[in-house]
Amino acid sequence: MSNFTVLPLPQPLGAEVRGLDLGNIDDSTAAALQQALSQYLVLLFRNQTISDAQLVASSARFGILDEPAPNPFGEPFHKVHPEINVISNIVQDGKPAGNLGAGEAVWHADMTYQETPPRAAILYALQVPEAGGNTYFADMYRAYDALPADLKAEIEGKTAIHDSSHNSAGMRRKGYAEITDVRETPGAHHPLVRIDPATGRKALFLGRRPRSYVPGLSVAESDRLLDRLWAHIDNPEFYMCHEWQVGDALMWSNLEVLHRRDSFDADAQRRMHRTQIRRFHSDQDVSAAA
Ligand code: OGA
Ligand code: MN
Repeated sequence: MSNFTVLPLPQPLGAEVRGLDLGNIDDSTAAALQQALSQYLVLLFRNQTISDAQLVASSARFGILDEPAPNPFGEPFHKVHPEINVISNIVQDGKPAGNLGAGEAVWHADMTYQETPPRAAILYALQVPEAGGNTYFADMYRAYDALPADLKAEIEGKTAIHDSSHNSAGMRRKGYAEITDVRETPGAHHPLVRIDPATGRKALFLGRRPRSYVPGLSVAESDRLLDRLWAHIDNPEFYMCHEWQVGDALMWSNLEVLHRRDSFDADAQRRMHRTQIRRFHSDQDVSAAA
């Protein structure tokens, strides 16, 4: 196993991992990183040089990979490694090289419209703009703990719909109709409170605000409750901000943090490669034993 150091960031969550080549890790290193991830929720690796094949191989040390979400353009961005999602505003030969464009990506967790959303993701920066395009991560354990008692009581036992029809940049995915009534939003229903199976700790689990709906409530009541929750989480006491450099890789724990991205100059070029880990190998061992 490699020797590396984990230094907490001077922010409400996150840690920097130093002394590690993320493109070359063995199983025991992955297990130690997973442990650090469960503690800090976001891990930053700087000055990395990771080939696409290495990104896939290292990600697969942690668990089973997910295919990227359906994108607005209807075909995988990465032809050689379809497990890799390309997040980019670059247009090549008239075709988008990646997803999400140059606009803001609103607070969200990835692919939570699935019954089993990815546990974690790794995002690796190949090209970044000089300014803008910062990414923020908000700790949903802290957000839950800080909820007023009445809101905690109000959300207990309730679920929300996590919209599958649009991406976090507000673009409709190919094959989906526009939603006119949030009660008909397509996507998984998840409890608003997620309980970590290992620790029993509670986190808010919100997914994304647009087109969300709390079944059992009127649309007006649901909007009122969701607006209160989303106003609560957008608080610098709960989030960190990452300003990207080329060669940075971020790994995040997708079910306990939300992330969002600032817009940037559409003429600048930003290109990131991302993998998503559906299940950790250790989670599978647990379910296999049960
Ligand atoms: C993602 C995402 C934000 C960014 O890859 O899931 O939301 O900073 N990316 O590109
Ligand atoms: Mn995302």
